[in-house]
Amino acid sequence: MTEASAPAKLILCGEHAVVYGRPAIALPLGGIRARVTIDLAPAGSGITFDAPDMDRRWSLAAAPDEPLSALAVRVCRELGVAPPDVRVTISSPIPIAGGMGSGAAVATALVRALAAHLGYELAPETVSALVYESERRLHGTPSGIDNTVIAFERPIWFVRQPPTDSDRRPGTENEAPRRTDTQHAIRRMPQATIEPIAIATPLTLLIGDTGVRSATRLPVGAVRQRWQADPARYEALFDQIGVLVWRARAALAQGEVVQLGALLDQNHALLQQIGVSSPELDRLVEAARAAGALGAKLSGAGWGGVMVALVAPQTREHVRATLAAAGATQVLETTIDPS
Ligand code: MEV
Repeated sequence: MTEASAPAKLILCGEHAVVYGRPAIALPLGGIRARVTIDLAPAGSGITFDAPDMDRRWSLAAAPDEPLSALAVRVCRELGVAPPDVRVTISSPIPIAGGMGSGAAVATALVRALAAHLGYELAPETVSALVYESERRLHGTPSGIDNTVIAFERPIWFVRQPPTDSDRRPGTENEAPRRTDTQHAIRRMPQATIEPIAIATPLTLLIGDTGVRSATRLPVGAVRQRWQADPARYEALFDQIGVLVWRARAALAQGEVVQLGALLDQNHALLQQIGVSSPELDRLVEAARAAGALGAKLSGAGWGGVMVALVAPQTREHVRATLAAAGATQVLETTIDPS
């Protein structure tokens, strides 16, 4: 049996604007992990997938277009081998469509496990590029931040190049064939600046789940339509987010948690103006602030999913209880260590 895992992620600040070339900061949540195990199966059975959490079973042969089937085939092509006879078991505590990178984490764990089963260890860049291609099929125009923070598993500063026309038309390119799909995937990964970030002091974050599930592509697609209809307004909003993400980076480097909290609040206000918050997210954000959080905002694509609150140790329990009383279906806690 071979096993591999990959963490959930949290966008600390800069989501949505990151799709349009502004910076964002993302954190891996190492304690919350998707896992994939691979067991040998009878000869000729090909790859079968079993995802009991999702109540799903399928085989590569019967469902070759299923995103994880297609990803497994790309991994095998990258490694120059035929798909093996194996049973792939997927388990993940990360809420699906909850803003914590569930899809990218499962895909990353699959790439790692399959490569390990075949006797390879892929570089994080390669894992990230393979998963990006998978995300792109699902979400249309992902910035690449989710697959990057999950594959590299460290806090990152991420700036991608603004989307090109072909980024906006997933799957419609008419390109010359590439030697391997992975080379194709790496070429498709938008150029991005990826840097580790300095964190001067431990950060305690509470993650409140609205319990509302919203596929990433829906708010991302809605923002794109609004941006296309009124580019000046949305570019200005993205610029404001970009400025506060730069300030958040400085606050992290200097250990200025009060300042960081205020920036998270401002980021939430801008995300509200972009139209990706929801009554459930706003309720949890307001509840966290009222209970003494240093700052709070939605995290991820929005319209549902999770919010994050930055808390001082002395208010942590009160904020947690307040979030639960305000309707959070679960409240997770993570501490980000200085780096
Ligand atoms: C999703 O985790 C973050 C978004 O900015 C989309 C993306 O960057 O691909 C909303």
